[in-house]
Amino acid sequence: MKKRILSGMRPTGKLHLGHYFGALENWVKLQEDYDCFFEIADVQALTDNYDNPAKVRENVREVTMDYLAAGIDPKRATIFIQSMIPEIAELTVFYSNLVTVSRLYRNPTVKTEAKQKKALFGQDAEGITYGFLGYPVSQAADITAFKGEVIPVGEDQLPLIEQCREIVRKFNHIYGDTLVEPEALLSENTRIKGLDGNKMSKSLNNAIYLSDNEEAITKKIMGAVTDPSKLKKDDPANPEVCMVYSYQKLVNPEIDKVCSECKAGKRGCVGCKRELIQCMLDYLKPIQEKRKYYEEHPEIVDQILKEGTEKARKEAAHVTNEVKDHMLIHYFE
Ligand code: TRP
Repeated sequence: MKKRILSGMRPTGKLHLGHYFGALENWVKLQEDYDCFFEIADVQALTDNYDNPAKVRENVREVTMDYLAAGIDPKRATIFIQSMIPEIAELTVFYSNLVTVSRLYRNPTVKTEAKQKKALFGQDAEGITYGFLGYPVSQAADITAFKGEVIPVGEDQLPLIEQCREIVRKFNHIYGDTLVEPEALLSENTRIKGLDGNKMSKSLNNAIYLSDNEEAITKKIMGAVTDPSKLKKDDPANPEVCMVYSYQKLVNPEIDKVCSECKAGKRGCVGCKRELIQCMLDYLKPIQEKRKYYEEHPEIVDQILKEGTEKARKEAAHVTNEVKDHMLIHYFE
């Protein structure tokens, strides 16, 4: 029997290279050897976008197309929409008794994200909503509703997996062995920085999207930050502090040559950027061709989501019945 994988992303925008190299590329490889469930986490996206439901709705299909374009194969993996699995919401309510409010405030991911969302929640914790504070509980429900054993994620998600493990242990201790304790599986390239050297993020406009066209990619790469100590074309430079080099590592097969030429002062930054643009376009070409196919066939995307969600719902209903049995809240057949 193959082990079960569960992971997901929030549909708040199209996916960029941070999502791709930080998670998606790994998911594509894992679908060979695992029984995979990949969630479109629209309920979680609403925890900090509750005032913009149109944005979340629009991006459910965009993110699904990005999953498919990147190589998620709907014949092998199940793609589903979180909000259409009401059992996840039920489990969230049951688990909320097993987590203290102070533990949630101390969750490093919640803390960092709350800080980043000053505009939404105010300067301090006072303005944070119940739903946002509790999203780790809901994420534990996402995972356990499918008895997810292996959770392939980026580093930022580790505190959420740990929170889920605590909930599972407490549940099993109180109600008897029911749930499976998941394990995180980190990707190799977990922290892809933006072209300006900051964390890759939509608001900083420093990300390359899987669906970016040639013009956008050219503009972004030409503006990328290089070694500031290199002033002239033939100055030797340090590739380790150069954002262009960090992207060359991901997409350029001739990376050793790039590195030695840069260190020896035999490589100007403009030429290096031009080379990266070409490698990036080549790398993204098959992904973009696949995406185009799905953009032209929205009915196929909908069918994949519908079938995946139906399959996921059966799984979640099965686990939720077991949970209710153990909690002694299963009253009639
Ligand atoms: N929190 C994840 C993110 O922000 C998305 C997510 C939702 C998730 N449910 C999940 C990841 C379950 C792993 C497992 O990207």
